[in-house]
Amino acid sequence: MPKHFTRIRDLGFEGAWKVLERAKEMKDTGYRGHTLEGKVATLIFEKASTRTRISFEVAVRHLGGTTIFMTPAESQLGRSEPLRDTARVISRYTDCMIVRTFGQAKIDELASFGSIPVVNALTDEGHPCQVMSDVLTMYERTPDLSQVRVAWIGDGNNMANSWIEAAMYFPFELFMAFPEGYEPDRQLLGLALEAGAKIFLTRDPHMAIDGAHYVNTDVWASMGQEEEQKRREAAFKGFCIDDALMGRAHPDAKFMHCLPAHRGEEVTDEVMESPASIVWDQAENRLHMQKAILEWVFTE
Ligand code: CP
Ligand code: NVA
Repeated sequence: MPKHFTRIRDLGFEGAWKVLERAKEMKDTGYRGHTLEGKVATLIFEKASTRTRISFEVAVRHLGGTTIFMTPAESQLGRSEPLRDTARVISRYTDCMIVRTFGQAKIDELASFGSIPVVNALTDEGHPCQVMSDVLTMYERTPDLSQVRVAWIGDGNNMANSWIEAAMYFPFELFMAFPEGYEPDRQLLGLALEAGAKIFLTRDPHMAIDGAHYVNTDVWASMGQEEEQKRREAAFKGFCIDDALMGRAHPDAKFMHCLPAHRGEEVTDEVMESPASIVWDQAENRLHMQKAILEWVFTE
């Protein structure tokens, strides 16, 4: 049975810590390896990407493998060939599918019909590679994650869901503020709270950010929600991370964003460009984390 990384929970508690430590080690040593020697990874991207695509293409090469990049426009996926058929065919040629798509069910379908590992490169429900990288970005600054207070100010989107999952395994406190109607996955939240995650929800960005060490946000309209932009701008009034809001966080607080950012919407240009901003380190860490995730997927 192939190992998949469709969500952070696929790692389990031990796996999550192992991958975190390994990513840090790979970063510190500038790791190059042979885990994917002779192997080919197919990247299937149904949405745009800069960071995820490039960092995965580089990560695969750093591990000795090669990649094929595929979009619906250039393949039979765009002409309605079923995913289950695509999964079975790609499994006959290549060794791994790295997938960016819409519903999480699509990733799960590829995993169940294919016979090679599937890695989630973002769905509407989760962005596990990004949030594992973000945990690394905090961990390299604050090794004792139990002393860390994280704020999420924004949409209950794929990023928010993956932060909730991360809080099941890593001992930071997660204070989350969402406008009404933009909450994250209820079932996942219940699961995380049951597992002991320290998650606190509010509608008030000020409450969520008070004393936070790491302040996170993301776009208000994710890919696929472009037509909701205007409605969302109204709903997220007061949720823009500006200097005043950052001023309520811990004095050494860092600003985090998975990128791309919409300056002037969820964050001001001043905060993005301020010394508190660690968004470029987050982007870099995608490369190191994804090497560790690929190694986890391809080893017993
Ligand atoms: N953060 C992130 O996933 O960026 P891309 O959409 O550029 O891949
Ligand atoms: N929530 C954003 C993340 C982009 C990396 C989106 O899904 O568009």
